[in-house]
Amino acid sequence: MEFFEAVKRRRSIRKFTEKAVPNEVIEKALAAAILAPNSSNTQTWDFYWVQTPEKKAKLVKYCLNQSAARSANQLIVIVADYKLWKRSHKPLIQWVKDSRAPKIVLEYYKKLIPFTYRAGFFNAFTPIKVCISFFTGLVRPMMRIPRGTLGLQEVAIKSAALAAENFVLAIAAQDYDSCMMEGFDEWRVKHLLGLSWFSSRVVMVIGVGESHERGTWGPQMRLPLDQVVHKV
Ligand SMILES: Cc1cc2nc3c(=O)[nH]c(=O)nc-3n(C[C@H](O)[C@H](O)[C@H](O)COP(=O)(O)O)c2cc1C
Repeated sequence: MEFFEAVKRRRSIRKFTEKAVPNEVIEKALAAAILAPNSSNTQTWDFYWVQTPEKKAKLVKYCLNQSAARSANQLIVIVADYKLWKRSHKPLIQWVKDSRAPKIVLEYYKKLIPFTYRAGFFNAFTPIKVCISFFTGLVRPMMRIPRGTLGLQEVAIKSAALAAENFVLAIAAQDYDSCMMEGFDEWRVKHLLGLSWFSSRVVMVIGVGESHERGTWGPQMRLPLDQVVHKV
């Protein structure tokens, strides 16, 4: 399917038919999800493909029993966890060494990434980082992302959300349907999946299936482009 067709085909489906979605469709979409751009290529995401009937039933309940979850044939949970920077650190350094990247990139991965991603015990490093960025920022442009655990979560969430979009577009491109959901009890979902309380965030639960004929509530509604695009 052509890219713009897949973009148009994707809708948030609230009611799916009972048709099964082959595992290969999900596998292909997951393979597309991990190709999403992500912060410093740290890949601080995980994808939980919930398969056991008991876990599925619990997840539906934690998604507030909404129909998009209840009727979905497959359920995927996309999780962001900034601490996963450690998982990709060594492979990334090796990749940089093997690549044509300038020398400064190696320094960036060796020094700046660990400095950025370590929040310290109870955010102990945060005041130091805030001071460095505040005073440096007085004399030259500085990244103003919030520091500490929340800031690191924010960075990881952005990347995971991009992976979620790749995922749903890949589902649409294979002629299946989906619904992204943030309507869930994050604490309970974390407990269900055994996630870290402090560093992880459940970004999205995605239901996948075939749309019922009444899967949407009507045509897609968007504000006109001239209201949201600002040529400056
Ligand atoms: C971050 C996010 C959270 C969402 N949460 C829910 C949800 O909990 N339940 C639901 O039915 N739809 C949810 N949606 C779907 C949106 O309501 C939907 O994308 C929007 O109404 C536009 O409709 P469309 O996707 O069909 O274009 C969510 C979408 C996003 C991006």
